[in-house]
Amino acid sequence: MKAVVYRDNGGPEVLQVVDRERPVPAPGEVRVRVAVSGVNPTDWQARAGRAHAKAFPEITPHLDGAGVIDAVGEGVDPSRVGQRVWLFMAAAGRPTGTAAEFTVVPAAQAVPLPDETGFDVGASLGVPALTAHRALTVAEDGPRRLRPGALSGRVVLAAGGAGAVGHAVIQLARWAGATVISTVSSPDKARLAKAAGAHDVIDYRQGDPAAEIRAAAPDGVDIVTEVALGANLALDLAVLRTRGTISTFANEGGKPVELNVLQNMVLNTRLQFLVLYTAGPDVRAAAVEDVAAAVRDGALPVGEEHGLPLVRFPLARTADAHRAVEGGAVGKVLIDVTS
Ligand SMILES: NC(=O)c1ccc[n+]([C@@H]2O[C@H](COP(=O)([O-])OP(=O)(O)OC[C@H]3O[C@@H](n4cnc5c(N)ncnc54)[C@H](OP(=O)(O)O)[C@@H]3O)[C@@H](O)[C@H]2O)c1
Repeated sequence: MKAVVYRDNGGPEVLQVVDRERPVPAPGEVRVRVAVSGVNPTDWQARAGRAHAKAFPEITPHLDGAGVIDAVGEGVDPSRVGQRVWLFMAAAGRPTGTAAEFTVVPAAQAVPLPDETGFDVGASLGVPALTAHRALTVAEDGPRRLRPGALSGRVVLAAGGAGAVGHAVIQLARWAGATVISTVSSPDKARLAKAAGAHDVIDYRQGDPAAEIRAAAPDGVDIVTEVALGANLALDLAVLRTRGTISTFANEGGKPVELNVLQNMVLNTRLQFLVLYTAGPDVRAAAVEDVAAAVRDGALPVGEEHGLPLVRFPLARTADAHRAVEGGAVGKVLIDVTS
C-alpha cells in the first residue's frame, strides 16, 4: 500500500510517500481502507516536534479520516467488515495515522458513518467536532451532553467562526438549540460563519465588537469558545454573563494572557482549558456519541456553502497539505487517499 511517513521531526519536506505492507489489525482493532484523510494543525505540530519528540522510528501522520472497514482483529464483530466509518485520534500514541491507503485503529475509534453522509464530512469530524463538543459542555450549569434542545436559551460566542473548530462549534451549538454569535476578521469569513449557521457575526477588527456582541446578547454570553485567549480575554470578559464560561482550546497569535483576578472573581468566571488528548476516555466517548447523533441529523455538513471550504490534495502532495494548514488555509484541508 502507499503510505506517507516521516522518520525525523522537521518541516513538511520530511514527509515521504513509500510502499509498505498493509497493517494487520491486532485484537480489538479494525483495519480501514482510508478514502479521505483530514489534516489538523496538531498534525503538522506533531511532525515538527512542537509538543514532544516522536515516539516511534517511523510515523504515518493524521488523526482524522474516513473510509471502509476491510478487516477486523480478534474480538471485533466480523459483520463490521464493509462498514463506512469516520476515525478519530488514529495517530495519537500510535504510528499508524490516516495518511495511508490502510490504517488500523481500536474498534471504538472507527465510528459508523451513515450511508447518506460523505467521506468529506467523516474526515472533517474528529479533532474539530470533538473539541467543539468539549468546549460546549464544560459550563457550571451544564449541559454535559449535547442533543437538540440541550443549549436552548443559552448564548454561545464562537471566536473565529471561519476556522475548523469554530465552524464545528457553530454547527453543534445550533443543533443543540443555542443562540450563536461568532467573531471573524473579514467579510469573506463573516459569510462563512453565517453559512455555518451563526445568528450574528461580528468583525472583531472593526468598530466596537463588545458593544455589538452586547447588542446581540443583552443578558451576556453564557459560553465563549476561545481560539485566541490572550488576544480576546478582555473582549470575552466584557460580554460574559455572571457565572459564564470561557472554554479555551488555543492561543492563536500567542499573545500572553493577562488575568484580572478581581474582575474574574466578581464575574464568577469559569475559565476552562481543554485538549482532547487528556480530556479522558469517558468525556471523549460521550462526545463521540453526541457528534455521531448530530451527523445522523445532518447537522454537520461541510463545503463552502456550509461555511467550511474544502481544500483538497492527493496523497502524494501531503507535504503541500501540511504547508496549507501551517499557512492558515481557510477551510478544511483534506487528502484524497483513494480517488
Ligand atoms: N485544544 C485542543 O484540543 C485543540 C483542538 C483543535 C485545535 N486546536 C488548536 O486550535 C487552533 C485552531 O484550530 P483550527 O483547526 O480551527 O484552525 P483554523 O481552521 O486554521 O482556524 C483558526 C482560526 O483562528 C482564528 N483566529 C485567530 N486569531 C483570532 C482572534 N484574535 N480572534 C478570533 N479568531 C481568531 C482565525 O480566524 P481569523 O483569521 O478570522 O482571525 C481562524 O479562523 C489551532 O491553534 C489548533 O492547534 C486545539
